[in-house]
Amino acid sequence: MIRIAAVGDVHVDKDVLGRYRPALEELPGVADALLIAGDLTRHGTVEEAECMATEFGDLGVPVVVVLGNHDHQSDQQDQVAGVLRDAGMTVLEGDGIVLELHGHRLGIAGAKGFGGGFAGACASSFGEREMKNFVGTTEAIAERLGASLRALDCDALVALTHYAPVPETLAGEPLEIYPFLGSYLLGQAIDSAPTALALHGHAHHGTERGRTPGGVPVRNVSHPVIKQAYNVYQLLSGDVDAGLVAV
Ligand SMILES: [Fe+2]
Repeated sequence: MIRIAAVGDVHVDKDVLGRYRPALEELPGVADALLIAGDLTRHGTVEEAECMATEFGDLGVPVVVVLGNHDHQSDQQDQVAGVLRDAGMTVLEGDGIVLELHGHRLGIAGAKGFGGGFAGACASSFGEREMKNFVGTTEAIAERLGASLRALDCDALVALTHYAPVPETLAGEPLEIYPFLGSYLLGQAIDSAPTALALHGHAHHGTERGRTPGGVPVRNVSHPVIKQAYNVYQLLSGDVDAGLVAV
């Protein structure tokens, strides 16, 4: 069994320092790794990234993250990722990693993702160059996510994104903004590999649980949704939610 702690949208800045830390100190006893589904900072500054590194550094378990749209706000996403890597975190963007955990290989492919909407109500690559760029950005990210998932040789495979791959986990958000919250192309990428669990954030008013058309469990781990420092899911044990603990 592999136990994964997960959260997203932690939006760390100096005012948040210390808020997550007490629960994070408990991590080695309840989970084998921590996955963070983007929006690590409020405005994507190096200073905020340093706060994130302080709050989520040296946890005693591997920490794997993707960036979110907020982490791009100041056009310093490369520096933000660098600060987090210097603190020992793995930052994924269209690539993957395999962690050896108690004799099991956990594969994680991660990407920020992007918008575009869902079946029956999605943007299409037609008309203005700006619309083609918008849709093309999501297509390229989804393609890389799918390729990364399919390339990982592991016992349990997890997809980590900021944007949502399915509409079910957006329930609670205004329908009008669904196209800015995720894309069905991410769901197709997840379904193109034997993915065991898909984690995302971004939708603060969404719903925790959903499923891709191919049947992969999807969990919106946005902090305002799960209302605790992290949820714990388990893999290689039948029911991903059986390991849920309150912290
Ligand atoms: Fe976001």
